[in-house]
Amino acid sequence: MSESKKATMQIRDNGSILVKGDVELLDAEGNVYETKPAFSLCRCGHSNNKPFCDGTHKKTGFESQPRAEG
Ligand code: FES
Repeated sequence: MSESKKATMQIRDNGSILVKGDVELLDAEGNVYETKPAFSLCRCGHSNNKPFCDGTHKKTGFESQPRAEG
C-alpha cells in the first residue's frame, strides 16, 4: 500500500508559490488546468501567464518574505 503524501504550497521569498503534490488547479468556472507534479503560482500579480509564475517578479523587484508563526 502506498502512503499518500500531503500536497504542499510553499511561499518563496520575493517570488511565487511553489505547489507540489497531488492537487487540481481549477479556474473560476471549475475547469482544470493542466499542471506538472510541481508548479509555481504567481504571487506578485505581474505574470503574463497567470495564474502561473513566469519569472516577471524578478524584473519588477517584488519583495515579500512572510513567515508562518509557530
Ligand atoms: S510571482 Fe513570479 S511572476 Fe509573479
